Amino acid sequence: MTPPHPVSRFPRGAVRSGVPAGGGKGGEEIDFEALRDALGALRDRERVAERLLASSARHSFDPDTELDWDAPPVDGLWYWPPELVSLYDTPLWYRMSEEQRIDLSRHESAALASLGIWFELILMQLLVRHIYDKAMTSSHVRYALTEIADECRHSMMFARVIRWTGAPAYPVSRRHHNLGRLFKTISTTPGSFTATLLGEEVLDWMQRLTFPDERVQPLIRGVTRIHVVEEARHVRYAREELRRQMLTAPRWEREFTRLSCGEFARIFSVAFVNPEVYTRVGLDRREAVAQVRASEHRRAVMRDGARKLTEFLDGIGVLRGVGRRMWRQSGLLA
Ligand SMILES: [Fe+2]
Ligand SMILES: [Fe+2]
Repeated sequence: MTPPHPVSRFPRGAVRSGVPAGGGKGGEEIDFEALRDALGALRDRERVAERLLASSARHSFDPDTELDWDAPPVDGLWYWPPELVSLYDTPLWYRMSEEQRIDLSRHESAALASLGIWFELILMQLLVRHIYDKAMTSSHVRYALTEIADECRHSMMFARVIRWTGAPAYPVSRRHHNLGRLFKTISTTPGSFTATLLGEEVLDWMQRLTFPDERVQPLIRGVTRIHVVEEARHVRYAREELRRQMLTAPRWEREFTRLSCGEFARIFSVAFVNPEVYTRVGLDRREAVAQVRASEHRRAVMRDGARKLTEFLDGIGVLRGVGRRMWRQSGLLA
């Protein structure tokens, strides 16, 4: 039997006692019941990591040997499901030829792979910072290193698939690039894991629709299948850690997380598709951007893609106050 944790000695009726959290003065109540769960979960941290390590041993892929990189693109197949292409169901979409639409899907899949590399470079650095002062022989750290190794393979795979499409790489804007530099240097753990989930879950939702889709190029389906299988572990790891952090971090850090991730959501929704893709397929960039912004279909896609994440973040107290309004502005939250 596990010995009761000290906080469980508080009588039941006294657990919401109005004691300020984290030694602060704000009068925010500590939820001791939830805190006890979190501390229990901290003891479970090693067990979660061990399960994720076992899963990594069973289901990890080497994209270089797993995929047929020599097979040329198949004529008439999409590079991304049409419904997930940004201009789908806009007036411009109906003026485009089928060929032009498929070409836009080719550029958008290259733009999303570029975004994926940007995220993963940030994430790898966040993970290295996360484990820097943790017990180096723990399973928690060993799993983080395994995840970094996964992300290394993913970024190489994404770079390779961009080349395969024949489209250029689409870096984010200079401003976003530098904001990413700042974020990956100064963000604290809960903010890091919230951003990680934002980067992983929306793309993951799209990839889950992509890999079984027979209208899509086989190589793209292979890339997205590998990514979905390996990302499931990453999402689990980040959620478990974030849940613990939001219960144990001091108040200022939780507030900082709410604001920084609200800002990250706003950047994410703008940076999601690089508008250069429209110019590349011969469209007027400003008109295309305006139509994407006005598109009800696109709004629904982005919201659906973020739904599981926003429900989770709401449940652990990340979507509050000003931060919540920023999420609304991003269009990812209804
Ligand atoms: Fe990845
Ligand atoms: Fe990941």
